[in-house]
Amino acid sequence: MKQVYSILRVVGLVALAIILAEISIENSDKNAFEAYPFLWLILGVVLLSAIAIEISVGALYSVLYKSLKPEAREQFDLLEQSKKEAKLEWWRKAYKKLLDKKPVENESEIILDHDYDGIRELDNNLPPWWLYGFYASIIFAFIYMFKYHVFGGTTQKEEYLIEVADAEREIAEYKKNAKGLLTINTVELLTEEVDLATGKSIFLSNCIACHKADGGGGIGPNLTDQYWILGGGIKNVFNTITEGGRPGKGMISWKSDLKPEEIAQVSSYVLSLNGTTPTDPKEPEGELYEAAIEAGEIETK
Ligand code: HEC
Repeated sequence: MKQVYSILRVVGLVALAIILAEISIENSDKNAFEAYPFLWLILGVVLLSAIAIEISVGALYSVLYKSLKPEAREQFDLLEQSKKEAKLEWWRKAYKKLLDKKPVENESEIILDHDYDGIRELDNNLPPWWLYGFYASIIFAFIYMFKYHVFGGTTQKEEYLIEVADAEREIAEYKKNAKGLLTINTVELLTEEVDLATGKSIFLSNCIACHKADGGGGIGPNLTDQYWILGGGIKNVFNTITEGGRPGKGMISWKSDLKPEEIAQVSSYVLSLNGTTPTDPKEPEGELYEAAIEAGEIETK
């Protein structure tokens, strides 16, 4: 029994340490131990010291007990025994109080004169544990009503909407910082100066051998007109550069050389060349891409 108590005390202490850490360290989306891994170390120290204390106290106790004279030991045992009984008695009383049940021998005092074919009814008091729970729920109901229906606390629906708005903000933030997630479905035309400048430098170092520095075309088609072999608009251009052109034409897939983000940047740069006038333009190839004109991705001049 003693060992069980020791173990319970150690577990309780560790649990208390965890709860304290959680309460005292404010962090909304991670628990304290994820946010501050060194807390594990502290927890380990708490655990080890608790075990050490339990062991030393236990050892001290048994040494003292063994050093007692036989008569003293007997007296000590008696004392312990009566302490234990007093404790048990306390629990027994508390249990009885909470039930407030008439003992069987006194049942005649509370029997009602209802008699249903020999089945009779006792008029026991409501068990106090139940009754207090009932009162507590009434008090709770008032507090709840005033808080949410009189003083206008945030209702569940509002809480939900706030959380959704927060989550949407986080998703937008995430998408903004994780351009590596870009696919043909999520790519959008970039218009920021930095993106276009990076796109230009990618274009100049990889593409001009076939498309010329001004996009006028050579081995590859003219990129400045509104005629596209493989489709215009950011999604098609992104796809062409990612996956390459038709087999054997010379336009390779760039996905192993360029990151999705870089492909989006160079695609946007290519589209920004649209409508410019190169020095020695190649004849238009492919078809007029009207969807992009409508979407405003290509300027018509
Ligand atoms: C080895 C030469 C070569 C290089 C280098 C090259 N391309 Fe191409 N590109 C081509 C050819 C050839 C085509 C036509 C493909 C076809 O007809 O299927 C083409 C097609 C394209 C198209 C589609 C044009 C249309 O009309 O649909 C785009 C956009 C494009 N290239 C962009 C780029 C970009 C951006 C780079 C640099 C990252 C690049 N290319 C590098 C040869 C090249």
